[in-house]
Amino acid sequence: MNVHQNVTILDHPVVARDLSILRDETTDIIGFRSAMSRIATILAYESLKDLPLRRTTIHTPIEATSGYHINTEIIVVPILRAGLTLVDAIMNFIPDAKIGHLGMYRDEKTHEPVDYYSNLPDEVSGGLVLVVDPMLATGGSADDAIGYLQKQGAKNIRFTSLISAPEGLKRITEKYPDVSIITAAVDEKLNDDAFIVPGLGDAGDRYFGTT
Ligand code: PRP
Repeated sequence: MNVHQNVTILDHPVVARDLSILRDETTDIIGFRSAMSRIATILAYESLKDLPLRRTTIHTPIEATSGYHINTEIIVVPILRAGLTLVDAIMNFIPDAKIGHLGMYRDEKTHEPVDYYSNLPDEVSGGLVLVVDPMLATGGSADDAIGYLQKQGAKNIRFTSLISAPEGLKRITEKYPDVSIITAAVDEKLNDDAFIVPGLGDAGDRYFGTT
């Protein structure tokens, strides 16, 4: 596919290695969690790359010099459950980030998202909102989440995923041209069950140890 200008795809050898670990069905839960944690760090780094800065003056033990503050509130919004796997990596860089939660699961038959929980901090309307979910498949969950956040007043939204399907990327980039997407891989397609092919199976189940 032609990748949209708003889509950033990670290009790094350790990401390629860790994606292979995550995709491999023989990887156990320890290997899965540790590979996810490493990729999440690089996704977080890339997702925070162009944060606005405010210049300040700081005093080193030697003299006064320029320093910087990050000049925006950052609100991380994981789509439950699997989005939780990407939260710690962002918090490691932004320890004062606010966290909002959106609970959604995908109905196995209709493949449509079903909302079950929402708890957002007030700052969503003024800050940078980073929606995180490792899988962007049909894009239904991301579409619902972004639409809901916009209704709550969010103006600056970006979406971070681990693996994206072309179908989901198309849906989100066409409907939300202002939302940039950061992903580690764009896979081939969706299968009849709307699972990403080749994908890695169900990220939430593999990370949390459920079936
Ligand atoms: C998965 C995944 C996304 C969604 C992607 O969640 O984590 O939220 O499906 O599919 P979509 O792009 O077609 O909407 P799942 O329903 O497995 O819930 P979970 O996070 O609780 O495991």
